[in-house]
Amino acid sequence: MLSELERIHLGEFPTPLHELKNLSSYLKGPRIYIKRDDLTGLALGGNKVRKLEYILADALAQKAEVIITIGAVSSNHARQTAAAAAVLGLECQLVLIGPEPEQMQGNYLLDHLLGADCYCVRNRDVETAVARLIEENHRRGKVSYVIPAGGHTPLGAIAYMQAYSEIKAQSPQDFAAVVTAVGTGTTYAGLHLGQKNNPDDTRVIGISVGGDLAWCHREILKVVNEVEEQLEWTASRPEDFNIFTDYIGEGYTIVYPRVQEVIKLLARKEGVLLDPVYTGKAMVGLIDLITKGFFRPDQNVLFLHTGGTPELFSL
Ligand SMILES: Cc1ncc(COP(=O)(O)O)c(C=O)c1O
Repeated sequence: MLSELERIHLGEFPTPLHELKNLSSYLKGPRIYIKRDDLTGLALGGNKVRKLEYILADALAQKAEVIITIGAVSSNHARQTAAAAAVLGLECQLVLIGPEPEQMQGNYLLDHLLGADCYCVRNRDVETAVARLIEENHRRGKVSYVIPAGGHTPLGAIAYMQAYSEIKAQSPQDFAAVVTAVGTGTTYAGLHLGQKNNPDDTRVIGISVGGDLAWCHREILKVVNEVEEQLEWTASRPEDFNIFTDYIGEGYTIVYPRVQEVIKLLARKEGVLLDPVYTGKAMVGLIDLITKGFFRPDQNVLFLHTGGTPELFSL
């Protein structure tokens, strides 16, 4: 089933995978490696480019002419969708949750630069706004294709299932853990499926940036179980996941001092730029687990850099 899936070319793969030698010796813990999905290549990169290669292949197969998606005003997913739609010559409509920003900056600035039509709405008005756009597009004779926020679909997860095989092919060493931020949970879902497809001792660890444990389990299971059903695999259960919710702070997008410290640490030790919403919090989690002795010094650990660069400028 997987080999039959259409995938279009939007980004540059495989992304680099390299060791963070200075950080590893500074922490005196395991050898830390990083997978650079911040360098997927399209309009400042990020993890959504992988998902969109599968999701937009499906949109093209359905003869879509307008891509509609949803996200926060600062959404990386919205920006990458706008870029992908531009490359494919499709219209892009972004339903963004939150008040219209007073200043054009970060992803919101790039959404406009990339030619997307942006509609800022309240959370409770999202469904109505999407329905209205579909209806208006239909009246113009245009076929709409709606991508859920964050590309949270089985195809999005399959993209990260494939990324897990990419990691395996790139790295001779075994990883005790692969660590990723959990937003909508699609990336985690895909890595979990990838590990199941390449059984080894690697633990896939997710650091939630907003959702509580029950929410993360539910959202991840939704896409994991759907892919498992299509593949006729046994269904995963919440006990199969390793999700930490201790590093959220006061909530999604709310930055706390340790996140700023860790962003600075990675910049100054490795020249790697993390973002304040996702990868900064995920790295706070990884470093905390290392300092608590979660890993042995002779082990290897892989951190997935999922992107988010444009929002670093609002730090
Ligand atoms: C930079 C970045 N990292 C991580 C994530 C989380 O990925 P996922 O939604 O697949 O959990 C997102 C988006 O949600 C993101 O934009």
